[in-house]
Amino acid sequence: MANDRAIFDPTDPQLKLDPYPLFKALREQDPVHFSELGFWVATRYDDVRTVLMDRENFGQGDFIRNIQLFYGPDFDVLSHSAYRWLSEIFLYQDPPRHTRVRGLVTQALTARRVAEMRPRVQAIADRLLDAVIGSGEMEVIHQFAYRFPTLVMCDMLGLSPQEASDDVLAALNQAIADSFIVFEMRAFEPDVLALANSQIDFLEEFFGKIFAARRIEPRDDLATGLCNACDENGPLTDHEMATVAIGLFGAGFETTAHMIGNGLLSLHKFPDQWAKLVADPTLAASASEEILRYESSLVGTNRTAFKDVTLGDKTIHAGERVLTLVAAGNRDPEIFDAPDIFDIERKGPRHLSFGGGIHFCVGAELARLEGEIAFTTLAKRLPGLKVDVASARWRQDGFMFRGLTALSASWQPL
Ligand code: HEM
Repeated sequence: MANDRAIFDPTDPQLKLDPYPLFKALREQDPVHFSELGFWVATRYDDVRTVLMDRENFGQGDFIRNIQLFYGPDFDVLSHSAYRWLSEIFLYQDPPRHTRVRGLVTQALTARRVAEMRPRVQAIADRLLDAVIGSGEMEVIHQFAYRFPTLVMCDMLGLSPQEASDDVLAALNQAIADSFIVFEMRAFEPDVLALANSQIDFLEEFFGKIFAARRIEPRDDLATGLCNACDENGPLTDHEMATVAIGLFGAGFETTAHMIGNGLLSLHKFPDQWAKLVADPTLAASASEEILRYESSLVGTNRTAFKDVTLGDKTIHAGERVLTLVAAGNRDPEIFDAPDIFDIERKGPRHLSFGGGIHFCVGAELARLEGEIAFTTLAKRLPGLKVDVASARWRQDGFMFRGLTALSASWQPL
């Protein structure tokens, strides 16, 4: 903040440590703020929700044009596999393309499929804790928070440990890093773009083989479900399915990992809340919702105005971009009582962390299941867990994903 006037600078290291003072200042002083970087920033709950819900006036817009904003109009966006893939994932599509692919994906990723995953997700959580419980300590982020959703996503897609080799997981990680760059509204460094291109080519070939195998030998997994999904225009092509599979991994991995890391940290910054969860682990589902509200792992998302539209006291012109800060809306005192207090039994309005409208998170049920199982299991099996709050390190490599790179925890070895 310069001279106490709120200015949005996503590269400010302080913002990555604690963005909430700036979010509060923006909400109070200039809730629909025009950043010097050339886009609008919305921070009030109602404005953020409006942008996400209002499909007449806001959408993803022209992907190619959005990318050329960083490189210039001559940049051949689609000649790069990484950008071509990003341009095709349904998150970045508007209707009707978005409607078709999302409809086919939800035929495969049903509530029943997620509910049936429960015992396997529980087994994954237990297996990860079995590996560390005797030692009395773990580095939460790398030994639990990252591994848990990786294994859950592999299970969901139906990838065996042989299929999900280290090369595949490394390439999926790269694809996830690719998707960040667009969220962060900045350009790739040339060498990173070259690597991202080759990893996407590799993954498309890999998933092509998986789908071919599932057609010959169907299984009860999402890869088979995607092959079978069909509407009046027919099924998804192999290329579309590979795009979806990589996209699901990208959308569901870091977000969930950070929900777990941010959650354990919050539960120990407010130790009475951890004590409450240990006393009654059935609070884990409601604790997960409060974690998502209080420390959303996805800070915001972007939209483009289709026409001139009024938001708050400002006019957004057609083609302009709006950064909708869900994490700022989640702390809006107009909506949430005492928004800076972490209360795992909080009742009342819903947080915005899964977005809203036609792009509402397609994996929300799975993320909720993962949160519920992770926190129930930790509270039941490690009631004496002590998290070293001072060991927490917030990631510094971007602004849009809020999560930790390190967090230490210990307990009496069992
Ligand atoms: C705590 C975990 C998660 C959070 C905080 C989260 C958050 C979000 C948000 C905010 C959006 C909307 C983005 C926008 O409107 O621009 C979204 C969309 C999406 N999420 Fe999640 N997500 C999580 C977990 C997952 C999981 C586990 C999956 C996959 C199984 C997933 C798959 C998707 C997909 C495919 C979309 C795009 C939906 C569409 O465009 O119609 N997410 N997520």
